Amino acid sequence: MIDDLATVDRTTAEPIEAVHRRLRGFLDRHRPPTPCLVVDLPAVGAGYRRLRELFPAADLYYAVKANPAHEVLRLLAGLGASFDVASPVEVELCLRAGAHPDRLSYGNTVKKRSDVARAHALGVRLFTVDSEPDLVNVAAAAPGADVLCRIFAEPPASSTPFGRKFGCDPELAGPLLRRAARLGLRPRGLSFHVGTQQLDPGAWEHGIATAARLAAELAASGIPLTALDLGGGFPAGYRDGAPPLAEYAAAIEASLDRHFGAARPALAIEPGRSVVADAGILRSEVVLVSRKAYHHAHRWVYLDVGRHNGLTETEDEFIAYDLLTAHDGGPTGPVVLAGPTCDGDDVLYERTTYHLPVDLAPGDHVDVLAAGAYTASCATVGFNGFAPLPTHHIGADGEPVDGCGHGG
Ligand SMILES: Cc1ncc(COP(=O)(O)O)c(C=O)c1O
Repeated sequence: MIDDLATVDRTTAEPIEAVHRRLRGFLDRHRPPTPCLVVDLPAVGAGYRRLRELFPAADLYYAVKANPAHEVLRLLAGLGASFDVASPVEVELCLRAGAHPDRLSYGNTVKKRSDVARAHALGVRLFTVDSEPDLVNVAAAAPGADVLCRIFAEPPASSTPFGRKFGCDPELAGPLLRRAARLGLRPRGLSFHVGTQQLDPGAWEHGIATAARLAAELAASGIPLTALDLGGGFPAGYRDGAPPLAEYAAAIEASLDRHFGAARPALAIEPGRSVVADAGILRSEVVLVSRKAYHHAHRWVYLDVGRHNGLTETEDEFIAYDLLTAHDGGPTGPVVLAGPTCDGDDVLYERTTYHLPVDLAPGDHVDVLAAGAYTASCATVGFNGFAPLPTHHIGADGEPVDGCGHGG
């Protein structure tokens, strides 16, 4: 089942199969209760370093929301990462993991004034805004801070698009940044995000072209565009594959050359998924296998993990994870996959075709690959009594790391 992923430029330095062996070796030796996530810290480090190599001129702000585990943050802080945070709690997590506050960027444009004040008190000095009320809050609660204005990027659809929740029409950016200056803030530049798990390496072209046009306008009004934040969106290796990360770097480089030439602003990227997803495997157990009618070809396979306790990104079947079972290699048949809760929406894949071994039975394990991002961090606190997803972190020897961060 993982053959078609061979074309994916994995974010790990060693072959992804070696990472899977280490993760599954840990699971088989220690047999932790399921469901659970295991994260391979050396693979997280390799994912970070790969992006560093591909974007050598950009500051790399890891998007904490993808996986805020202390072990992950501590490892990345030790490697010199900066962090994209969305709340005061994420600020605190980064500081506890050893990050300096000047390495934090508050990228969420939906924030209370009191949250801005708390982040400012903790030392954060860079905020992204996309509207006047947000800007006024930042000016009041974080006087003198640096600000970026997030604009719509008009990208091609990504696997999980953001729609219009964040950003503003580019025509609002100039007035907002000029107002920022009048309010005593330091207007630094622009940001945009092309949507997460973006499968088109050319998706940044429109945002970069727009930023270059706005840079010229802003310069004319005395506000130089000194920073451009290209957001996240870089892919992980799910079932249907993705172009190699090197293609993204090349396409972005070409767009920057085309639109900015030698006069480039300071660059930043905010990858989340592409740093951590491939480093994790979520082990689940089959609860039931049933057939709903004599004439149905497909079986319903119910797992002990579902939409609410880790596989949130199966919403609308956006992310199709690759799965491994102990029966792989034998005959398979079509299945609908569902989670364990009493919620009718807790169905993982009904339209997306999955075939699983016909021998699959209650108690068997189903391993969900590339599960290191947006799984444990998105699990509910206990809907229907199903606990949040526990996470184990392993080091290069395949054994648990004690939270001291020696997995990198
Ligand atoms: C502001 C911001 N930056 C970065 C990211 C990370 O995106 P990705 O995980 O696709 O790299 C997100 C994701 O939602 C985001 O909202």
